[in-house]
Amino acid sequence: MKDIRRTPISTILSNHEKMVGKEVDVKGWVRTRRGNKNVQFVALNDGSSIKNLQIVFDLSRFSEDQLKGITTGASIHVQGELVASQGKGQNVEVQAAGLEIYGSADPEKYPLQKKGHSLEFLREIAHLRPRTNTFGAVLRIRHALAYAVHKFFNDKGFYYFHTPLITASDCEGAGAMFQVTTLDINQPPMTEDGKIDFSKDFFGKQASLTVSGQLEGELGATALGQIYTFGPTFRAENSNTPRHLSEFWMIEPEMAFYEIEDNMDLAEEFIKFCISYALEHCADDIDFLAEHFDKDLKDRLNFVIHNDFVRLSYTEGVKILEECGRKFEFPVYWGVDLASEHERYLVEEHFKKPVILTDYPKEIKAFYMKLNEDGKTVRAMDVLFPKIGEIIGGSQREESLDKLQQRVDELGLSGMDWYIDTRRFGTVPHSGFGLGFERLVLFVTGMQNIRDVIPFPRYPNNCEY
Ligand code: 4AD
Ligand code: MG
Repeated sequence: MKDIRRTPISTILSNHEKMVGKEVDVKGWVRTRRGNKNVQFVALNDGSSIKNLQIVFDLSRFSEDQLKGITTGASIHVQGELVASQGKGQNVEVQAAGLEIYGSADPEKYPLQKKGHSLEFLREIAHLRPRTNTFGAVLRIRHALAYAVHKFFNDKGFYYFHTPLITASDCEGAGAMFQVTTLDINQPPMTEDGKIDFSKDFFGKQASLTVSGQLEGELGATALGQIYTFGPTFRAENSNTPRHLSEFWMIEPEMAFYEIEDNMDLAEEFIKFCISYALEHCADDIDFLAEHFDKDLKDRLNFVIHNDFVRLSYTEGVKILEECGRKFEFPVYWGVDLASEHERYLVEEHFKKPVILTDYPKEIKAFYMKLNEDGKTVRAMDVLFPKIGEIIGGSQREESLDKLQQRVDELGLSGMDWYIDTRRFGTVPHSGFGLGFERLVLFVTGMQNIRDVIPFPRYPNNCEY
């Protein structure tokens, strides 16, 4: 069979009126096959759309033997005429004239035979789950959101700034870093006082995978004006929750001359843009997920786009929580790091809108945040979302050399001189934030577990594939 370039099924289905009567060439994976001894119908999917293309095999043209390799999961190449469909459920179908079977899939062994596998089961076969309708939809939406991120910032004149993944500094100070070493961990070189001698390690010092690109991002912003990062980050915290991954992607814009209010405006506009983009470009996939998992999904997405986020201080938020009469699992008081149940109460039950909480106690936030005049709180901002809790964390940065140096000394941080130089030479007010990309994908897809919105999730006790 002549191997002309394939036409994506999405192109055929969205241009079917123009394409009827034309010869098409399609390649993909068989989802189902049914029929009788005169005619066989195959639902073919090539990943370009949630929708399948129906292929009709007339048994006057093909023998049973030729078709026997066409089972669920097999990969095939079909040529034939695109014709208007007689049957219900599709506008067009392909009247097969040529068939090539690339690879069969033993029906006894292929794990994705039946419909309706649980998401837990699919997590165990994450190497095959992209072939399901659900993961196809999630992964196409994930792609669209990633593209929307770049489009949003590029159109605003931000520069995509690449920050290192291997680092010697702990940006968030949470101590949850994965170490990077080439030392023999069974027999590491030791110093005289009995510690591991990292001066003999690959980088001549102790190194880790980054938890955030922010510190280097600030170096970019204080030169290029406004930058964003978009890359993987790694956290070794032992959080077995539906909202934490050990490896996740983060987007971190950093803007010179931005105060906290500008930062909040940008965060709100950014997140609304991404959601609108997905609604506009992934309608079929969002419809599918809404129908199968979450009937309120589209209402929730539209609600977020069309409403202003509530902005209030941590102190006001804590007051609401203290007075609401609800018994929380974790107690609430001024100074506590809010748990997801507290955040979600504010968003889902009290305000019924996304909330931006600001001005947190300095003790529960990172060292780089700008100290308020009260000396107790810092200019932090967390964006809290329904179903998710914290989706963005950010702040105005401390631009005063003295105050930053004091905080670094208080916390006993070392090796930060390169960072503090931004305040030593031409310091400026500046701000930024970090959006957890998977939490955004979680929100837009309506999935329940963050492990189901990244192709190969990493979490405690799981590093398959
Ligand atoms: O609030 P975080 O820790 O903030 C930072 O890392 C700052 N350096 C950001 C900045 O100001 N440039 O993390 C930012 C976001 C969180 O709001 C959350 O959405 C996501 O990253 N996040 C995680 N997502 C998945 N799994 C985890 N373990 C996450 N930890 C944080
Ligand atoms: Mg945070």
